[in-house]
Amino acid sequence: MPETTPKGLTRLAFGGDYNPEQWPETVWQEDVRLMREAGVTMVSVGIFSWALLEPSPGAYDFGWLDRLLDLLHENGIRADLGTPTVAPPAWFYRAHPEALPVTADGTRYEFGSRGAICHSNADYRAAAANITTRLATRYAEHPALALWHVHNEYGVPVSACYCESCAAHFRRWLTDTYGTIDALNEAWGTAFWGQRYAGFDQINPPRLTPTVGNPGQALDHKRFADATMRENFVAERDILHRLAPGIPVTTNFMTALSQCDSVDYWAWGREVDLVTNDHYLITDGRRTHVNLAMAADLTRSVASGAPWLLLEHSTSGVNWQPHNPAKAPGQMARNSLAHVARGSEGAMFFQWRQSRRGAEKFHSSMLPHGGTDTRVWREVVELGSSVDSLRSIRGTRTRADVAVLWDWQSWWAQNLQWRPSEDHDPRERADAFYEALYDRHLTVDFAHPEADLSAYPLVVVPALYLMTEAAGNNLEEYVENGGTLVVSYFSGIVDEHDAVHDGPYPGALRDVLGLTVEEFSPLLKDDRIRVTGPDGSELTGDVWSEFVVPRGAETVWTYADGLTAGHPAVTRHRFGEGSAWYVSTRLTAQGLDALLGRAADDARIAPRADLPRDVEVVCRTGESGTFLFAVNHTALDTKVPLDAHGTELLTGERAAGQVSVPAGAVRVVRLDG
Ligand code: GLA
Ligand code: ZN
Repeated sequence: MPETTPKGLTRLAFGGDYNPEQWPETVWQEDVRLMREAGVTMVSVGIFSWALLEPSPGAYDFGWLDRLLDLLHENGIRADLGTPTVAPPAWFYRAHPEALPVTADGTRYEFGSRGAICHSNADYRAAAANITTRLATRYAEHPALALWHVHNEYGVPVSACYCESCAAHFRRWLTDTYGTIDALNEAWGTAFWGQRYAGFDQINPPRLTPTVGNPGQALDHKRFADATMRENFVAERDILHRLAPGIPVTTNFMTALSQCDSVDYWAWGREVDLVTNDHYLITDGRRTHVNLAMAADLTRSVASGAPWLLLEHSTSGVNWQPHNPAKAPGQMARNSLAHVARGSEGAMFFQWRQSRRGAEKFHSSMLPHGGTDTRVWREVVELGSSVDSLRSIRGTRTRADVAVLWDWQSWWAQNLQWRPSEDHDPRERADAFYEALYDRHLTVDFAHPEADLSAYPLVVVPALYLMTEAAGNNLEEYVENGGTLVVSYFSGIVDEHDAVHDGPYPGALRDVLGLTVEEFSPLLKDDRIRVTGPDGSELTGDVWSEFVVPRGAETVWTYADGLTAGHPAVTRHRFGEGSAWYVSTRLTAQGLDALLGRAADDARIAPRADLPRDVEVVCRTGESGTFLFAVNHTALDTKVPLDAHGTELLTGERAAGQVSVPAGAVRVVRLDG
């Protein structure tokens, strides 16, 4: 079994990406002195250093990296060492221009940024294996080495390539997947628009076509592109395992970023030794801390509940969004510790020292352009000491209350063209249901639709358009055995090839939901629809409505106007020992809360003690004890009730019956017993 925790790291990870090659070596001395002052325990190095390590083909310069790793080791700082394969040098592209990726319309990208990689290219694969082998051979025994950081953020900025070698690779992948061309024709439904193929050699990647292409082809190409990147990760990982046994291997994910939707992290989570994640606040006017919590919960779920590590976030503003506000005083620490509450074994940043040159010079860092006489630096030093006082939580696991189903492949299918409404965004529904659960102070695990759900009293399906028959059976079994299920509209419609399940909608779910959907009736932009309940309650929907025909389900809320007036809007079906709810419109936050309140009653989930909406309470538990994290995102001091007595770890104070959490602060109580 490979190691899963950074070797030799006896505390939580605290530090960041460290790019000393951007500075003269004299600066390194100051760096490590300040790292010690801040309590840095680990840094990520060498991620983009290929051009320095191999300045010309086959000529290596490891001297600077030797000195750097020695210096870190002398100062007790562990190294997360990158394989630099996300940034091949200029000489490589001069020799192998066809390793540059090609877009669907045939444009070839140029050198001069990063991540310009055709993952099928044999020369790239050979060169990546070579530099990885050199690094592993040289540093396997280095005492600073704690963790391998392969590549960087697979899937961005290029998620798929459409060049000739990818076309050949795609054909091989399809041959392995389908065996015969007849099976592929059947799966893709190529009888439509005369798209039938007589042989695999006739198939190309889904390049630019005059109008909408074949959805099965597009979906399989996404799978192929993801699998191809994973092949390259696994190739590097296996070299590292072989040459440097005992050192865990990771690559940094971006689990909750909707811009990075090309990676099926369920599959990747099984390949890494330690799941690590990068998270940046998306400042689009929504509650950023809710997206943060969701990213952290999703990352933990991808790690099957095991501890994971936040490998990058920012001390303050980033530089790549339209508007990049600084973080408010205290917000950095609150963000870091909110990740820790949800399973991260530390808090790392991009980056240690702010760059003077290059594309990211306006991105915040631990050590800003302004130096140490700055608010950011003082907060970094304070956070280092807070993180250190939490070291006893290592290895504990976050306890979840409910599960939300999540599937990247379903979104790939959903986001193909020509759907009933362009306003239906499945990610928006996932965010909205998550937020509604967050507001009820429930901790969420995400689960694959075919995963064992028996541990959860409540399972929510936000909008999973693609659902296999196996997933449908899984949900039936879950409800039959007493579970409570909530399903949002446009779920369970197609199978893994984007073919509509046989019979009325929603094919994969109609038995468990006790209904059929005769027709979708999406609403026009800005149209609203009223929905009334038996208790006189009135909810509002938009974007979507449906003609639902109950076949065993009871109607709970009914459409009051629009084309579907008088038809069921929200239904409940008793099925076996459990119940299954269905909502056929896009409810507002208030509507989701009403629906989840009813479902939580069915699931016998007791409402949480009266907590302000933006106060998070999350528990980590394990051999070293039970730790209650209270994260106060509000501007008011608050008190969080406790079932037991305990010790607050950041202040050292005793807590009995309750813990006071100042405005904007975090408290972590280790419960007695
Ligand atoms: C990503 C990358 C880093 C850096 C940061 C900036 O997460 O991994 O190299 O570019 O973004 O936010
Ligand atoms: Zn290619």
